[in-house]
Amino acid sequence: MRRFLLVLLALALGGLPACAEASATPDNGSTEEVVELPSLKEIYADRFDVGICVGNRAASQAEYMAFVESQFNILTAENELKPDAVLDVGMSFVKAREDETAVVVRFDAAKPILDYAKEHGMKVHGHVLVWHNQTPDVFFREGYRNSAPLVSREVMLARLESYIAQIMEYMDENYPGVIVSWDVVNEAVDDTTGELRDSLWLQVVGEDYLARAFEYARKYAPEGTLLYYNDYNTAYFNKQNGIVKLLEALMAEGNIDGYGFQMHHGIATPTVKEIAASVERIAKLGLKLRVSEWDITVPGNDEANFAKQARMYGEIMKLLIDHADQFEAVQFWGLTDNLSWRASQYPLLFDADRNPKPAFWAVVDPESVE
Ligand code: G3I
Repeated sequence: MRRFLLVLLALALGGLPACAEASATPDNGSTEEVVELPSLKEIYADRFDVGICVGNRAASQAEYMAFVESQFNILTAENELKPDAVLDVGMSFVKAREDETAVVVRFDAAKPILDYAKEHGMKVHGHVLVWHNQTPDVFFREGYRNSAPLVSREVMLARLESYIAQIMEYMDENYPGVIVSWDVVNEAVDDTTGELRDSLWLQVVGEDYLARAFEYARKYAPEGTLLYYNDYNTAYFNKQNGIVKLLEALMAEGNIDGYGFQMHHGIATPTVKEIAASVERIAKLGLKLRVSEWDITVPGNDEANFAKQARMYGEIMKLLIDHADQFEAVQFWGLTDNLSWRASQYPLLFDADRNPKPAFWAVVDPESVE
């Protein structure tokens, strides 16, 4: 009954582009009912792309991806384009015997996602070239040998340039026009101090590792690829100051296009006011913007919490609409709560049975939340 009312609400809102067939499991448990849902990508088509992250297992599930495609037009590989998936440590180890700067890459993990996007005319946002996490430690060591000494700055920069060059070349050759943007560097600012966080990138290359990463990304990425710095907790002052300082330095280098707000939030913190202030401040820099990994956790899957969650999604959606001239994309970090990295806190728009939650309707029509 609830779902029927929701669909009525959707249709009563007048003219919502309703065209997504969704195989939702109706309250009565039967599975034959098909619920028409408004399509987020169509609702926001003239403002920004709308997407989610997907893993390669999901990418090979036709029915799941048909639903994804009905709602979204841009995908991020949740883990499959990170250095621990792309760097072929074994083959790099072999080649490093001859040449310490050798790097070998592979894309078998990401292939299902890239193939689906290419075959279905969807965009992909590349996540991530340089990160302190999910990056093999041996990438920074002589001969790619565990616990060997760290390589020199020169060797690491040569490896980084080769890594980025090979990725860009492979994508341009095999998936031309599919990857429209990249997180060149992710989460480089320390949460507390606002300075660069300690990492092997900082230790081996030095403070300019970000500038070099953007330089190589710009040098090898196809013309028009948007290059982002991506981070979280932008609404908190110390971190925000550090992010702004870093963005200004990268803008002076001339190779950065935009900033990605991850927006991993909870209904309690940060407040919508704090989020709005962070968006206003960074928007003033004039960069392109994107919401890269949006989710909003709740302490329980009851109606009251889901109503608060919907209100927060709706309020922030209004903010993004106000800044639609700078936002290129809004991406949620997953489709259904059970597949989220924070599954126990029900952070997404759809429940485990792919039923739309109040949060989905709030994103469909932010004005509907009071
Ligand atoms: O692939 C292995 C599998 O072989 C193994 O059996 C299993 C159990 O150990 O682990 C699997 O790897 C997991 C990987 O996800 C793929 O599922 C890792 O343990 C797990 O740590 C990893 O978590 C990812 C997390 O990044 C790691 O930092 C999450 O899925 C992913 O959603 C999350 O995404 C990050 C963004 O990239 C950057 N921003 C923060 C965001 C949330 O942490």
